[in-house]
Amino acid sequence: MNCCRLIIRSFPRTLVGKTSSAIVVAMFQAGAASAETPTVTNIFKPFSTPAESIHQASMLVVLICAAIFLVVGGLLAYTVVRFRHRPEDQGREPPQIYGSNQIELAWTVIPVLIVFVLLLVTARTIYDVQGAAKPPDAIDITVVGHQWWWEIRYPQLGIVTANELHVPVSDSSKRRPTFLNLQSADVAHSFWVPQLAGKTDLIPNRVNQMWIEPKQVGTYVGNCAEYCGLQHARMLLRVIVHPPEDFDRWAAAQKESAVNDPQAQAGRNLFFSTSCINCHTIEGTAANGKFGPDLTHLMARETLGSGVIANNRDNLRAWMRDPQVIKPGVLMPNMQLADGELEQMVAYLMTLK
Ligand code: CUA
Repeated sequence: MNCCRLIIRSFPRTLVGKTSSAIVVAMFQAGAASAETPTVTNIFKPFSTPAESIHQASMLVVLICAAIFLVVGGLLAYTVVRFRHRPEDQGREPPQIYGSNQIELAWTVIPVLIVFVLLLVTARTIYDVQGAAKPPDAIDITVVGHQWWWEIRYPQLGIVTANELHVPVSDSSKRRPTFLNLQSADVAHSFWVPQLAGKTDLIPNRVNQMWIEPKQVGTYVGNCAEYCGLQHARMLLRVIVHPPEDFDRWAAAQKESAVNDPQAQAGRNLFFSTSCINCHTIEGTAANGKFGPDLTHLMARETLGSGVIANNRDNLRAWMRDPQVIKPGVLMPNMQLADGELEQMVAYLMTLK
């Protein structure tokens, strides 16, 4: 085992880095879109250490496979054209040739070498990603997959939120990666933000680990990558990467208990008289349900329904009127509110900034 590790560790990193990134990465990045408020992700534009390692390894694999394809396809095309049927062949079989030690040796040894190189590169990348040491300033986040949303907890900071991870940017002078503990409350899900890291499953009764280290401020989109039921495709994720001081400001605001705006008293009373409180938590109140997303700072989030619609008054009203219309199968029931009640409830939820 140790000997394997030695081979893997001593395998030249430069071969992975230089060859692939110099040639192919530049090619793909030239046509890549910018990272500003994206709705679609881009696997060719990694912005985080693990994603960069995986990208480099996969580009080397693509490069080697493309070379093999060109050689095999080229030889095949040449043979088809050069030795195609001609009228003067008169239906005779061509000469049958068997046995060439040189050729047989070549087509055995070369593929073995190629597979060995790919094996070492892959092992090296896995070792780098999974064996990474956690720096003292790293942020810990627990992500719990639910049908069909993401519960996000910051145990060091005492913050609970949903569907949107906020993390600080990491720069080479002060590395601040985020380490994720991945769990599931029901079925298997998979956490995937392609520009930040590879995918890792969230499995019931098990804690999986992964980490991200975004190096550029911005929003990165991702999604659940393991079929988990009806709304699997709309179990979307956002990672919002802040400059360090913005992250601290966000964290300080999230730590506050919910505001209690007397203007929204009617909606507040209504909220606490319904079964909403059995499923949702609002910090600093009697609502401490754990089944649905924490609503303490609901309006600080960009989306509703785990990325399904933008979070604003009209969409919130539509969601509260009947979530089943917007996200069929979602586990939040239609609360059957009358129009007046709906307005009061929305007015209250809008105060949860
Ligand atoms: Cu959760 Cu698919």
